[in-house]
Amino acid sequence: MIDAARRLITSAARIVSFSGAGLSVESGVPTFRDAATGGLWTKHDPMRLASPQGFAEDPALVVDWYAHRRRAIARATPNPAHLALAGRRDMTHVTQNVDDLLHRAGAGRIIQLHGSITADRCNGRCGYSEQIDLWNPPPLRICPKCPDRLRPDVVWFGEMLPVNAWHQAQKACSACDLLLVIGTSAVVYPAAGLIGLARSAGAGIIIVNTEPTEASDLADIELLGKAGEIVPKLLG
Ligand code: OAD
Repeated sequence: MIDAARRLITSAARIVSFSGAGLSVESGVPTFRDAATGGLWTKHDPMRLASPQGFAEDPALVVDWYAHRRRAIARATPNPAHLALAGRRDMTHVTQNVDDLLHRAGAGRIIQLHGSITADRCNGRCGYSEQIDLWNPPPLRICPKCPDRLRPDVVWFGEMLPVNAWHQAQKACSACDLLLVIGTSAVVYPAAGLIGLARSAGAGIIIVNTEPTEASDLADIELLGKAGEIVPKLLG
């Protein structure tokens, strides 16, 4: 199966990766839904910690929880899958991950569909945003430009995706020859719809995941195993 997947990769001119939390789990960053790897939503209520309503009800709780995640991501380092992806300068990387591990691995074109945990932005409409220090994450703060609060610059449940990132991702996925889908349960929309979009536009689909997912039926080749072991074999 690996050889067949490598042949598909070699014959593709435009390759895009589409990743989820399973890409970063071997770096020590937990997934959301995978109980085996301590999935965050198996232990915490996403509506309290990752929704506009949760932030309105208890903003300090939300910011404290993100501070904990930020410190964990600061301690993490890119794993062999991030490094193998970064080694392919010709690829575009569409990711649902809010961590910066693809950036730290040195990847070129990265499209973050769900925002970035490395920045705060105004919870109101003034448009203020700033990079934060993952090692020393800020507490709950007031925006320096308006009376609203700052919040992590990530997409929460019920919120729109960043418009530019979404348009760029749709463009990349509808124009690629091959979509390499890594470590996502493919249940969160609209992001998961990119797999079907690429497929309907004629792209080959290779999935790398430790288990079958909602997108398994769309795959030309599904490789079951750890991203950190399989992705370097595919791209090396
Ligand atoms: P999930 O937690 O839903 O899925 C993680 C996937 O990674 C599962 O399918 C696992 O089987 C797989 N997996 C676990 N370990 C792996 C490994 N070592 N190698 C390869 N695969 C592995 O995470 P996402 O699909 O990323 O949204 O979740 C999508 C969105 O839901 C996230 O971006 C987040 C969450 O709510 C927002 O924050 C808006």
